[in-house]
Amino acid sequence: MTSIPPTRLPCAELHLHLEGTLEPETIFALAERNRIDLEYPDVETLSAQYEFSDLQSFLNLYYANMATLRTAVDFAEMTDAYLARAAGAGVRHAEVFLDPQAHLVRGVALEEVMDGVSTALGSSMATHGISSGLIVTMLRDHTAQSAMDVLEAVLALGTPILGIGLDSAEVGHPPSKFVNVFARARAEGLHVVAHAGEEGPPAYVWEALDLLQVERIDHGIRCLEDDGLVERLVAERIPLTVCPLSNVRLRVVDEIGAHPLPAMLARGLNVTVNSDDPAYFGGYLDDNLTAVRDAFDLDPAVLTTLARNSVDASFADDARKAALHAEIARAAG
Ligand code: HPA
Ligand code: ZN
Repeated sequence: MTSIPPTRLPCAELHLHLEGTLEPETIFALAERNRIDLEYPDVETLSAQYEFSDLQSFLNLYYANMATLRTAVDFAEMTDAYLARAAGAGVRHAEVFLDPQAHLVRGVALEEVMDGVSTALGSSMATHGISSGLIVTMLRDHTAQSAMDVLEAVLALGTPILGIGLDSAEVGHPPSKFVNVFARARAEGLHVVAHAGEEGPPAYVWEALDLLQVERIDHGIRCLEDDGLVERLVAERIPLTVCPLSNVRLRVVDEIGAHPLPAMLARGLNVTVNSDDPAYFGGYLDDNLTAVRDAFDLDPAVLTTLARNSVDASFADDARKAALHAEIARAAG
């Protein structure tokens, strides 16, 4: 992979798990600060574990490593480190995912989690030139009641959030399980998105659209197996937040050259490129864009389209979207 970013076009990142930005070095620093025993003696041994056979094999390590996060300061530093790195990748607007349930089950108070993240996001524009928002993701392999409890607790706490999402182990946990939770979120005026069609079948994408009424599909690459679904996604211009390096590292596709991104663009789908869990999957947004640019010889016009799509697919207000489009136009020349 070349080290030159494709164009450093200004863009929005819409599919990014904050806990997936914990680099191995940070995990060791947090473990020391919080006096937590890690299973691995050093950074090299931990890094050697980053070979995944599927989504679950990644999730096992992802949840184990986030046990090093304890205090609001930890959450704020993690968030700020991501923003700093993302700014270098051209990100000018970020809508980031957070998994509160994964911290609550470890005995970390919701206030610590939400205060830390929201403090860092609150200064993202001033510090990094990135407008930002938080999407609370519900763990689909936990109960619907647990998701509802977290939603109610977040609403009661009053920390501003953009919306809710759905992540974790997909197969066996269809969107239909969370109809009431998403209805409640929509009734509160929150935006709604969901992971679907990563490892799960196209039927889960249909459910996310029809039952959860999501505004974006996270991943969604398996939609290509269902022509009727592709037609629907194209007709409604539903954004798909695609994460190429994630798909390769989680063996959803065999190699970057086999990624369906070109096919998705050719079908007229509203595709954006994102980094998912960059500390685990080999790179941030610029690395993902570089990987697909090089694998498919994408020309600058396609990269500009991806940048524009990301802004249009975001939940930024119209003024911010206009400013970002103007920045893209200037950068694209
Ligand atoms: N898929 C599902 N859940 C996740 C992911 C992912 O790629 N990353 C973090 N949680
Ligand atoms: Zn994801």
